[in-house]
Amino acid sequence: MKIWAHRGCSQCYPENTLTAFEKAMNIQGLEGIELDIQLTKDGQIVVIHDEKVDRTTEGTGYVREYSLSELKRLHIRTEDNLKEHIPTMEEVFDLLAPKMRLGKLRLNIELKNGVFYYVGMEEKIVDMVAKFGVEDAIVYSSFYPLSLTKVHVLSPKAEIGVLNGKLSNCLYMAMGMEQITDHETKLALHPGGIGLDLSREEISGRTVRAYFGGHLYPSKPTGGRMDLEKLEAAGVTDVFLNEPERYL
Ligand code: G3P
Ligand code: CA
Repeated sequence: MKIWAHRGCSQCYPENTLTAFEKAMNIQGLEGIELDIQLTKDGQIVVIHDEKVDRTTEGTGYVREYSLSELKRLHIRTEDNLKEHIPTMEEVFDLLAPKMRLGKLRLNIELKNGVFYYVGMEEKIVDMVAKFGVEDAIVYSSFYPLSLTKVHVLSPKAEIGVLNGKLSNCLYMAMGMEQITDHETKLALHPGGIGLDLSREEISGRTVRAYFGGHLYPSKPTGGRMDLEKLEAAGVTDVFLNEPERYL
């Protein structure tokens, strides 16, 4: 089973922060890191899960209504006085790209454009990935299939993760994308861990990366462990976990 850090090490550290990513990149055996991107008012790519800043910072309102400099004045809510800010995608690449270029770390970039459609997001992220020379280490995903087809047109060799709560919906959308892409396109299924509604046979030969919600910082670690062997037997190849360090 390949293990990814979901929003970085997001149970013990604030999600989608440089600290959460740095902790993750130093875990021996980790396959990669997942993160979420949105665009600011002035078109800068920032790494934050929600469309609004309310849950993770002291601010209020939508990311898209802040310029980058305004957004940078906000602080991530922490218990440990970490003095974190919402990172830009460039800052994250500055941290992760050296390891990615060595083939030792992958990055799943989730384009968060299902609620608001950020015009130009696909072009901006594909350009930035090329600028940092990390094309081979990226998996692009989105709940918004149109975005995935745009990424594919811009970067035909890029791996695409079809994202949906249910595995059957992921398969349905992937089969649709297979009609408009060539057979060498890498299309993975990214279902919710509670939406695994297909048999191993129905998904055989496919990459299936299941995401699990779990607790987020500042939640404390809980007792139960996930049964990764059972998931593997069900055909899951990779998992996104908030607490990957517990399994590696
Ligand atoms: O990409 C998998 C997972 O992160 C999707 O859900 O809400 O955590 O972004 P969410
Ligand atoms: Ca995500």
